[in-house]
Amino acid sequence: MVNINTTGSNINEDDFQRLITFVKAGYGIDLAGKQFIVQSRLANYLSDCGFADFSEYLEVVFSDTSGREAANLINRLTTNHTYFMRESEHFDHFEKVFLPQMEKMVRDHDLCIWSAGCSFGNEPYNLAMCLDDYFGFRQHSWDLKILATDISFNALRSAQRGIYSEQALSDLPEEWRQKYFDPTQHGLYRIKDSLRSNVIFKYHNLMDEISFKKKFDLIVCRNVMIYFDDKTKSDLCKRFYNATEDGGYFYIGHAESAPADMPYVREQPAVYRKEVNG
Ligand SMILES: C[S@@+](CC[C@H](N)C(=O)[O-])C[C@H]1O[C@@H](n2cnc3c(N)ncnc32)[C@H](O)[C@@H]1O
Repeated sequence: MVNINTTGSNINEDDFQRLITFVKAGYGIDLAGKQFIVQSRLANYLSDCGFADFSEYLEVVFSDTSGREAANLINRLTTNHTYFMRESEHFDHFEKVFLPQMEKMVRDHDLCIWSAGCSFGNEPYNLAMCLDDYFGFRQHSWDLKILATDISFNALRSAQRGIYSEQALSDLPEEWRQKYFDPTQHGLYRIKDSLRSNVIFKYHNLMDEISFKKKFDLIVCRNVMIYFDDKTKSDLCKRFYNATEDGGYFYIGHAESAPADMPYVREQPAVYRKEVNG
């Protein structure tokens, strides 16, 4: 067991255990063995706010019934790393397999896509670009909404703004950079309103029941379950499955392993499907 000091910005073993139990129970994120990451992500905040030590801080988090301190904690502890064209195999599958199939299957022209754990919005906006690229003028006869959810309010705020650096756009095709972004006065790039209006950002904790009105034709949950243990992953995949239309798809990150009792059928690496009569 790591011996960690009890004073100041160091977290002692008891407090660390209390903290990771709280985060795992509420948000699924398994921080076991990550004392130093936790400590380094929270130390400045604790000292800026004048907390004497982690014990005092945790008392405030646990007793704050408004949930504000917990949200703040989660903002600091989540790993929000993301980028455009991440795991581009998914975007290939999306345009070459998923959309042609859905164009035939979805008779009411109402296509529902969910980016679960959307972080700063690169993933859902990237899907929106693919939708525009694929449907072109035909999109006017379709309802093409993407639901994008996360538990980090900071990430969601930034995603909603949809402003990115030039460097962040570098993996996108030049044509898409021109077509889907407006340059800002500050040398940054803002997602065009036409694209942004197709993405709906919402807070949703993946530990909660899924109670969205419609089932989804595609759920994208990439590089999120990597932080969950097997049981959490297995329960979540069942909830996703029940929220997926028959014949709908499920994408996970290529570095992630599916739970042993995965209800979806594997189509190719990191691409799963609910049977047509599932
Ligand atoms: C590494 S990012 C992945 C972003 C994007 N899906 C991608 O692959 O680029 C993981 C995201 O999952 C979110 N997350 C972690 N636990 C979550 C939970 N219980 N409910 C909803 N989102 C969660 C984090 O806040 C973070 O933004």
